[in-house]
Amino acid sequence: MKTKLKIHKWPDKILKKKSKEIENPDQVIADILDQMYVLMKATDGIGLAANQVGLALPLIVVEVQGKIYKLINPKIIKREGFVAFREGCLSFPGIELEIKRNNKICVEALDQKGKPVCFEPEGISAVVFQHEIDHINGVTFIDRVSLWKRLKITPQLNRIKNGKVK
Ligand code: CO
Repeated sequence: MKTKLKIHKWPDKILKKKSKEIENPDQVIADILDQMYVLMKATDGIGLAANQVGLALPLIVVEVQGKIYKLINPKIIKREGFVAFREGCLSFPGIELEIKRNNKICVEALDQKGKPVCFEPEGISAVVFQHEIDHINGVTFIDRVSLWKRLKITPQLNRIKNGKVK
């Protein structure tokens, strides 16, 4: 399957947009999730949120530890412990940042068919879900680092802004 979606990079305003809950997921939403998954695989990502493809919708796709998740309205309802990983983001090519997040979370969502699901990812999986759920709330990983760290990556951000990084 091909997809017409493309990755929107920083500083595209869509990345700041908080999406509203989807009340009646339909086939259109299911198709968007499939297309997002295709794009994520094509770009070697392990997670992708709808904002990143220009859509202010609460949709994420994640593939971690051999499992594929295509989720609607994902929410974190419980958090435990702390962990820090170096994270990348398809909307910030070339930038890696160490972010402190929760080590274990409980996620509630609807699956691609609209059925409620919940699961408890840990470690790197928990980190990927937190990164993607941040996106649908208009938060990116540069919002989670100190001002000092953000200043340090300003030259890299400028390269992305000027279209010098693919
Ligand atoms: Co990201």
